[in-house]
Amino acid sequence: MPNNRITVIIGRKGCGKTYLAKHLCKDKKRLAVFDPGGNFSACGLVIYNPYDLAVYTKQQKDKNFRIIYQPEGVNIGSKKDIIEESFDFFLRNVANLLYICVVVDEIHLVASQKSNNFLLRNFSNMGRKPEISMIVTSIRYTDVIVPMRANADEFVSFQAEEPADVDYLRKKWGPIADELESLPPYHFIRKRSDQLKATKERPV
Ligand SMILES: Nc1ncnc2c1ncn2[C@@H]1O[C@H](COP(=O)(O)OP(=O)(O)OP(=O)(O)O)[C@@H](O)[C@H]1O
Ligand SMILES: [Mg+2]
Repeated sequence: MPNNRITVIIGRKGCGKTYLAKHLCKDKKRLAVFDPGGNFSACGLVIYNPYDLAVYTKQQKDKNFRIIYQPEGVNIGSKKDIIEESFDFFLRNVANLLYICVVVDEIHLVASQKSNNFLLRNFSNMGRKPEISMIVTSIRYTDVIVPMRANADEFVSFQAEEPADVDYLRKKWGPIADELESLPPYHFIRKRSDQLKATKERPV
């Protein structure tokens, strides 16, 4: 996967989104994961403290690193404004680094359609900002903020059955979207912006 791409992964609970996100970032030399759910601990250096994140990202500017940020006192059940604030801090720190892959598992937790997320929106809209790629997951396509899904270079859906999501993907992909409901575990349909057609893929 070349740099400066946005990859959006959706699908119902337990279908393999986090697993695929981990797979896609396996070989990244410079990686920053926002991980309040604690799913990526084995993927790099876990940082818990905001101060440490700020110091570490400054030190790493020209080096290789794999940072997993699990902010202390924050988890996926935390209040929305607490998660959002913590995510904003994370993004502000990693946004200064170029040639980096940023992973946000369950992006709907940190950015809803209504929330402000100036930096994230900016990030998504500067789709061609050099050398920052993003991999995000969410249960529902409709929960992914509009600028992000509008600018996605690669779109993956595991099994999905919410009518709003399937209808939307049918409009984008055509009849292959009708197969979303019955996809076997860990199978997915993928569409890259440089390909004409969405394709069915086997588990990674
Ligand atoms: N391609 C795969 N091959 C083998 N096991 C897999 C694969 N994908 C996922 N799994 C396993 O299935 C389980 C669920 O996967 P995962 O956590 O990635 O799903 P998810 O979509 O992120 O779920 P959630 O919505 O709960 O976050 C995990 O135990 C994972 O190891
Ligand atoms: Mg997951």
